[in-house]
Amino acid sequence: MSLKIQQNNILTSTENYIQNQFENEGSGHDWWHIHRVRNMALKIAETEGGNLFIIEMASLMHDLDDWKLNGDSGISKSKVWLEKLELEQNQSDKILQIIDQVSFKGAGVETKATSLEAKIVQDADRLDAIGAIGVARTFAYGGSKSRLIYHPEIKPEMHDSFSTYKNNTAPTINHFYEKLLLLKDLLNTDSAKKIAEKRHQFMEVFLEQFYAEWESKL
Ligand code: NI
Repeated sequence: MSLKIQQNNILTSTENYIQNQFENEGSGHDWWHIHRVRNMALKIAETEGGNLFIIEMASLMHDLDDWKLNGDSGISKSKVWLEKLELEQNQSDKILQIIDQVSFKGAGVETKATSLEAKIVQDADRLDAIGAIGVARTFAYGGSKSRLIYHPEIKPEMHDSFSTYKNNTAPTINHFYEKLLLLKDLLNTDSAKKIAEKRHQFMEVFLEQFYAEWESKL
């Protein structure tokens, strides 16, 4: 079997496995989020380069062990899945490292992407958190945690540790200041920075309109 066919088989079975795992996810981390991140990562790679197989695998698996979805069970589903696929050790190490580096752990907690592939997947994931889709996903996530949409007296807080970020119960609008509006400056690649501009502007317009409606001005 050629390497290309072998890799395509691995990608297809990973895609099926992930689709299954995320099918009934209602907090904005559903299969379509994964699908968009994969497509965006491959699009960024067209100009930025990188190993496409690693990028696609890591994109598909990037939320599999996410604390937001799994809690701290201690068992790495990604590790178990990669072992099952019998990938070469250096490939699965690379994929696991990307997965580990991609998750956002709070505004003051830096998660550095070290490889080009990690930078690309991290950018694709962050782009899906901003713009119109970002707005939709943020409220879906807030709703899944029974959070208020907005509370005029609860001000945004910058979380400088993972545990304060994780245990945050603030209204969803605060999340724009604590994370979403910061993302454009945290992107790694020029291609992603360019795409982020319009998405960032859209969120600013959204917030302006939101407050105007809240104050009955519009
Ligand atoms: Ni994600």
